[in-house]
Amino acid sequence: MYRIAPSILSANFARLGEEVTQVLDSGADIIHFDVMDNHYVPNLTIGPLVCEAIRPLTKAIIDVHLMVEPVDRIIPDFAKAGANIISFHPEASRHIDRTIGLIKEQGCKAGMVFNPATPLSYLDHVLDKLDLILIMSVNPGFGGQAFIPEALNKLRLTRERINASGRDILLEIDGGVKVSNIAEIARAGADTFVAGSAIYSAGKDSDPHRYDSVIAAM
Ligand code: DX5
Ligand code: ZN
Repeated sequence: MYRIAPSILSANFARLGEEVTQVLDSGADIIHFDVMDNHYVPNLTIGPLVCEAIRPLTKAIIDVHLMVEPVDRIIPDFAKAGANIISFHPEASRHIDRTIGLIKEQGCKAGMVFNPATPLSYLDHVLDKLDLILIMSVNPGFGGQAFIPEALNKLRLTRERINASGRDILLEIDGGVKVSNIAEIARAGADTFVAGSAIYSAGKDSDPHRYDSVIAAM
């Protein structure tokens, strides 16, 4: 099963509620929520208050992508704010196994994120505890960057590891996903597709169905 996860990083924040409900009405499955701290990544975005504000709008999965360091302290806040999945970058955690445990103790699914140059060996001793693996196909920090093709190879290797584990782990791709490359990305093994600029640049603000065709094409 394939899932489309619009990244609200590229939404119009002046009308965020509508931006969330409109992508879901147009067929999106998951809301991808990018949290940046101007420390781990060179940008600053949104926190638990915004997650709490959009939570009542939908029952859809809210997939929180934490690009923050340190990571542990903010996890309970996002769990209380209604996050369903919380993913973190291993480089931003002092104790990776502890961070995964903390996410699960809070009742959320746990994901680990791999930057373009982060080795998959971080999976070695924790794969069985993960619910999601997120492969970055751009360097984290900004929407609208170009897809890094090496991510396809990394997806294939990750798909092999997930299949060998026999576990039900989502394989998510994030960065530069467009209608033109999504089929190739799916063939490499991804099942969950984050797309920010490709979705939120579609159509005119005044058209409530502006996201229908781009999401359908994905
Ligand atoms: C980048 C974020 C992405 C980003 C994707 O650090 O994790 O989720 O918003 O944006 P696009 O789809 O525009 O590359
Ligand atoms: Zn993201």
